[in-house]
Amino acid sequence: MFEKIEFAPADPILGLNEAFRADPRNDKVNLGVGVYKDEAGQTPVLNCVKQAEARILADQQSKSYLGIDGHVQYRALVQPLLLGEAHPVLATKRAHTIQAPGGTGALRIAGDFIASCLGGKKVWISNPSWANHRGIFETAGLEVGEYRYYDAAAKALNFDAMLADLDQLGADDVVILHGCCHNPSGIDPTLAQWQLLAQSAKRNGWLPLFDFAYQGFAQDVESDAAGLRHFASELPELLVANSFSKNFGLYNERIGALTVIAAEQEGADRALSQVKRIVRANYSNPPSHGAEVVATILACPQLKALWLEELAQMCLRIRRMRTELADGLLAAGVAGDFSFIEAQNGMFSFSGLNKAQVARLKEEFGIYIVGSGRINVAGLTPDNLPKIIQAIAAVS
Ligand code: LMR
Repeated sequence: MFEKIEFAPADPILGLNEAFRADPRNDKVNLGVGVYKDEAGQTPVLNCVKQAEARILADQQSKSYLGIDGHVQYRALVQPLLLGEAHPVLATKRAHTIQAPGGTGALRIAGDFIASCLGGKKVWISNPSWANHRGIFETAGLEVGEYRYYDAAAKALNFDAMLADLDQLGADDVVILHGCCHNPSGIDPTLAQWQLLAQSAKRNGWLPLFDFAYQGFAQDVESDAAGLRHFASELPELLVANSFSKNFGLYNERIGALTVIAAEQEGADRALSQVKRIVRANYSNPPSHGAEVVATILACPQLKALWLEELAQMCLRIRRMRTELADGLLAAGVAGDFSFIEAQNGMFSFSGLNKAQVARLKEEFGIYIVGSGRINVAGLTPDNLPKIIQAIAAVS
């Protein structure tokens, strides 16, 4: 029976890791998957996480199951982080948050919820979008369409086209919005633009689903949530899939959450019961360690302050690398204006390198970036930057 199975194509992002590992060159550089690296090229465990883990190990009494919806304290602490302590949605109890296995897991639960409870909805992703979005929603049985987002010539948001496309949608549509640090472009709407997008959702009735995987990587955790918080103030219903892989450096703990906001508390309760049904039939209940870590940090003012400081340092280092990359390309005589690299938010730079250039970077220089031309700026270090600049100059 299995002889009929065909090979699936390698994943455009995680598949690069496999090719990278198999590459024997000593000076190879992996700028594919969105993982933060420090100046020494390491992906560190944050100090706040180390301290929280020490406390957890010392205090842990049991390894019994969590509830289907996850760690109770974690769920309670995620909401104010996303929406802000004083957000009216919290006071009216119109939101439920469930722990999910990473942002991807949260999106997939959302996909199953849309497919099984909202009936016949089409999901719209930005063009371009994170390479896994389409697969997640199609695998959940949903049709996926694209709305215009990025103006490749101007290397900027094509907001008029985005709004025009979303204004064509209606109550049978779900729109995936990147809460901040748009992946892969790094270009986000301004607050004024978020406000216009929220008006479009209200006017046309489409349901927003925020993918919020980089909170804290554009400005800070509060400012980066401005668009989401505005939507939550304006709209009766909203879904939020968030991840703590990047901002807590908890990649392999697979820790994220799905938040369902409904028009009233009873609607949120009903939605939660359905989400729990979906989770139970999928992976039963989530693992606890990542949730314990995040909850321990968010609940302790000293650990939370340390986390915010460490997050700010990661963000600063990425900004520094953006400047050094842009300056380096200019100094190497590569034709073009590289100010766009510094204007982008988050871990990625959508470089404009084409598929042939990406292939040459890999084959001739052992530099791995995503086929779309997306560079993980968080993987640049003072050591690898000169080689990368030279290689880009050679293929440009
Ligand atoms: C990325 O875009 O590189 C990350 O979100 C990791 C992933 O799962 O693709």
